[in-house]
Amino acid sequence: MENVTILTHPLLQHKISILRDKNTGTNEFRKLVEEIAMLMGFEALSDLPTEDVEVETPIETCMTPMIAGRKLAIVPILRAGLGMVSGITALVPTAKIGHIGMYRDEVTHEPHEYYCKLPSPIEERLIVVTDPMLATGGSAIDAVDQIKKHGGKNIKFLCIIAAPEGLQRFHEAHPDVQIYVGHLDRQLNENAYICPGLGDAGDRIFGTK
Ligand code: PRP
Ligand code: URA
Repeated sequence: MENVTILTHPLLQHKISILRDKNTGTNEFRKLVEEIAMLMGFEALSDLPTEDVEVETPIETCMTPMIAGRKLAIVPILRAGLGMVSGITALVPTAKIGHIGMYRDEVTHEPHEYYCKLPSPIEERLIVVTDPMLATGGSAIDAVDQIKKHGGKNIKFLCIIAAPEGLQRFHEAHPDVQIYVGHLDRQLNENAYICPGLGDAGDRIFGTK
């Protein structure tokens, strides 16, 4: 699938394995989500444009690259996407942050939007959408629909774990979005949870339930 990158770095896979463990507590879970987001962000932002600027070192003056052009907006899908924001702002502290609130109906598994606030203007920004879980793909598709309605064009999506069904659906709905996946899991179960997955990402990050 064009525009889909499944990451394989051993450090990333190691951290994802600890996340999956049901005995990993909230504190460690949160820290790992942050670290994983930083590693994924490092990879996803490897094509950021740079421009040479003049810098005076203690030895001499030189032309040296700095990040140029498009400004970054990070847009977490609430709640669980919030856990990934600090990992990316650690890389790009000047990024603006938008929020999209989505919850899945427990019976139909359909996403419902309850909040949307994006940095304005959004058109010229590179937008990095974060959500640890891509299950049926419904939340990701609706979130990106919203961002595009507001004028967003250049969009990357970072998820820690994806199900094949949801990844396929999301990619078909938004083929222009560059998708970065920490690990592609086996399948969804009858409750639309990812198997083997890690359970409910929002509950594990925030210690609810
Ligand atoms: C989870 C997850 C995604 C969504 C994925 O959120 O963080 O947003 O489910 O499922 P989908 O691909 O089938 O749409 P949830 O609705 O549980 O809300 P929460 O983050 O507030 O717990
Ligand atoms: N949302 C989650 O948090 N986990 C899943 O496995 C599916 C959706």
